[in-house]
Amino acid sequence: MKNTPTTLILAIAFSSMSIAADMDEGKEMYEEDCTKCHDSSVFTRPAKERKVNNLEALKKQVHRCVAATGSSWFEEDEENVVAYLSETFYKFNKAE
Ligand code: HEC
Repeated sequence: MKNTPTTLILAIAFSSMSIAADMDEGKEMYEEDCTKCHDSSVFTRPAKERKVNNLEALKKQVHRCVAATGSSWFEEDEENVVAYLSETFYKFNKAE
């Protein structure tokens, strides 16, 4: 009885939201919360000095760093920032 068409439509809308990562949103979140400890030079140092060299490692590192900010982020926020960093600095998106 609670399963009205509206509920269904909302469910579909929300699930498709998390599929398409929003890079502008990611950039904003990054600039707001992530620039206290390091700047973007950590993403662009030579591969052998970098911690992150694939998409999976990037997701994990972003997750750890989000915890370090002390802010509460949604899963989508993390995905958006991963997409933003990958596209802008690491260029992992091509391999996905
Ligand atoms: C409390 C401090 C702190 C904050 C805030 C922080 N980071 Fe970090 N981050 C670090 C440290 C420390 C490292 C490791 C740097 C090193 O190895 O020189 C790091 C490394 C990284 C790396 C890996 C860089 C590489 O070597 O490839 C990524 C990606 C990253 N941070 C993303 C983020 C994101 C996204 C945010 C915002 C959610 C964030 N950081 C906020 C401390 C922080």
